Amino acid sequence: MMALWAGRFKKEIDENVNAFNSSLSFDARMYKQDIMGSQAHAKMLEKQGIISASNLKEILDGLDKILHDLENGDLLFDPTAEDIHMFIESELTKLYPESGKKLHTARSRNDQVALDLRLYTRDEMLAIKQMLINIIEVIIEQASHHTETIMCGYTHLQRAQPITFAHHLMAYAEMFYRDITRIDDCYERMNVSPLGSGALATTTYSIDRNFVAEQLAMKDITYNSMDGVSDRDYAIEFASALALIMMHLSRFSEEMILWCSWEFKYIELDDAYATGSSIMPQKKNPDIAELVRGKSARVIGDVSTLLTMMKGLPLAYNKDMQEDKEALFDAIDTVKLCLPVFTDMLKTMKVNTEKMREFAAKGFINATDCADYLVKHGKAFRDAYKTTGELVAYCIDHDLVLETLPLDIYQQHDQAFEESIYEAISLDTCVMNRKVDGGPSPVAVLKSIQIMKEKVGAL
Ligand code: ARG
Repeated sequence: MMALWAGRFKKEIDENVNAFNSSLSFDARMYKQDIMGSQAHAKMLEKQGIISASNLKEILDGLDKILHDLENGDLLFDPTAEDIHMFIESELTKLYPESGKKLHTARSRNDQVALDLRLYTRDEMLAIKQMLINIIEVIIEQASHHTETIMCGYTHLQRAQPITFAHHLMAYAEMFYRDITRIDDCYERMNVSPLGSGALATTTYSIDRNFVAEQLAMKDITYNSMDGVSDRDYAIEFASALALIMMHLSRFSEEMILWCSWEFKYIELDDAYATGSSIMPQKKNPDIAELVRGKSARVIGDVSTLLTMMKGLPLAYNKDMQEDKEALFDAIDTVKLCLPVFTDMLKTMKVNTEKMREFAAKGFINATDCADYLVKHGKAFRDAYKTTGELVAYCIDHDLVLETLPLDIYQQHDQAFEESIYEAISLDTCVMNRKVDGGPSPVAVLKSIQIMKEKVGAL
């Protein structure tokens, strides 16, 4: 296809150079946004008296037809086109030569691509936000069944203190909620129109940039044309928000992988969300969780690609910036691939509450509560801590746990111990008494679930 910029050139572009230069293979996905942006631009040109009403009608009809034909497969992307912008403009010009040639008045591909990518990002932000709402709802649903399910909480992956499974799950709801708010923040900065920035220095036509922004439901315009065409901060911010989502999913995946190992057996994945081994008949592998954990690396890499690509660029537009799309699209695609499948895996998992309780009963995770018992009986915390440490050592030597340690041994270490110690260190008491806001007790978790429901409901 002959380039639309061919006038200055005496030779056609080399075939390999054309292929090297072309972004169509990856920017074709922005066809809807390109058409939307062009229609808003054309309406503005007509309103300002720059093109006629009949030009506008042909441009709008032609672009509608291109959209329709692309969607039902009657029009195929021409792989020799330089990019999606050139492809759509030349298709329009084939349909309506006179009007089509006027569309690019007072516009450059630099502000056009800057606009298209913002519009594309906007749609994807909304789609991913909905996926995050879905995963939070599934977490809430699972957590609601397990507000009384006692499990062992870990630090350093060593048994630490008793918690409830609901509390553990709801930690992830908090993370995904923050991810939503990060996307919302980024959306606000992104949703402004750079159209009218031109190549870098606007235009001499009397255009109405705010009219275009309004047409596209963008809340403002950009106020520096050089920044308008060369700002990709929003893409980097969004990719960073996506990397954080993947980091959260990856941590969750790691726990799911641990929990469904034979060593833990806290959960069992539904057969539809696990895979077998080609050689070991006993295996049920958590491939989905492993892949999600693995794919987080891609998105973290995409952020690095974008930052590195941008960091040395002089103002304003440089062709390097064409490389923004594949990295951003990969980050978006990866998150959109991982979130729904992970959500369904979570929804269908079975929880082994007995196993969780059994493990919680070993490992001295009530030792802090034993020390606290002494504090509540007038001892200083550091002394109580030391006494409890000695009791734990005694138990380990004698193959006991704090629950089975005889009262006389307790009393040999500190006279303050009474029969009530057994009640104080029972797992149920340890959990029930942690009713501070943000804590693991059923009462506290139910409150945090309620607050999360309200926050998600208000989105
Ligand atoms: N395909 C280009 C990109 O994605 C569009 C803008 C090209 N502008 C230019 N003057 N070559 O960045």
